[in-house]
Amino acid sequence: METIVAGNWKMHHGPAETHSFLDRFTAEAAGDGVRLLLFVPALSVAAARARLGAGAGIGLGVQNVHWEAAGAFTGEISAEMARGAGADFALVGHSERRQLFGETDAETARKAAAVRRAGMTPVVCVGETLEERVAGRLQEVVGGQLRPVLETYGRTPHGAAGAGSLPLMIAYEPVWAIGTGRTATPEDAGAAHAFIRARLAGSLGAARGACVPILYGGSVHAANARELLDVPEVNGVLVGGASLDPGSFAGIASAASGRESS
Ligand code: PGA
Repeated sequence: METIVAGNWKMHHGPAETHSFLDRFTAEAAGDGVRLLLFVPALSVAAARARLGAGAGIGLGVQNVHWEAAGAFTGEISAEMARGAGADFALVGHSERRQLFGETDAETARKAAAVRRAGMTPVVCVGETLEERVAGRLQEVVGGQLRPVLETYGRTPHGAAGAGSLPLMIAYEPVWAIGTGRTATPEDAGAAHAFIRARLAGSLGAARGACVPILYGGSVHAANARELLDVPEVNGVLVGGASLDPGSFAGIASAASGRESS
């Protein structure tokens, strides 16, 4: 499986800043076996697509979509619209969506299904709070976040997806590690990823479950990316703050190069 290095810009970098990032970022930083993705603000997708062209080596995604294809949902965007603007991926269920905007596990599952119907790859974010971890509830919480996504997965046809498109990705992002400078230890990340992999195998079957990349996210930067990516269960990283600067993101891409995940 290739190693995935994904950047989540959150509410940073409008169209003009997106142009200047892409002018300065050199995808050559990523060697063979590394796939780069950028989750940009929805308003910046078209600008990024225009700069990247159709077949460039950087995958493009949005950070959120609505579960309906169209309708009276003021301020929302649909997966179809994101696809039309040039996105091939969408984050769903990021912990900031869950915590700050009250999104539920069931809504996240509907969004993941909408992304698949639009022919894109959903990247479903899961992760426990510190309180939940300390209380020994990691598996209950993460398992509960995965369950509705995996239950609807088999019932949702994948729309006309682009070549090489993956049906699903998971990002394990412990809430206490996001934007805090605290990173999960390689052992903790490995254990959580192994649990997620077992749930994927249980729901999708071993063969299909094994094809779903599981990314780690939470305070990843150039200096710690390698030790996390050396964990066999970690198939890639989802990077917030350290993806905003092209040099810093390139540093993570080169740290990932040469490493083949299982
Ligand atoms: P961070 O964010 O790298 O800034 O901790 C990760 C994320 O929220 O995806």
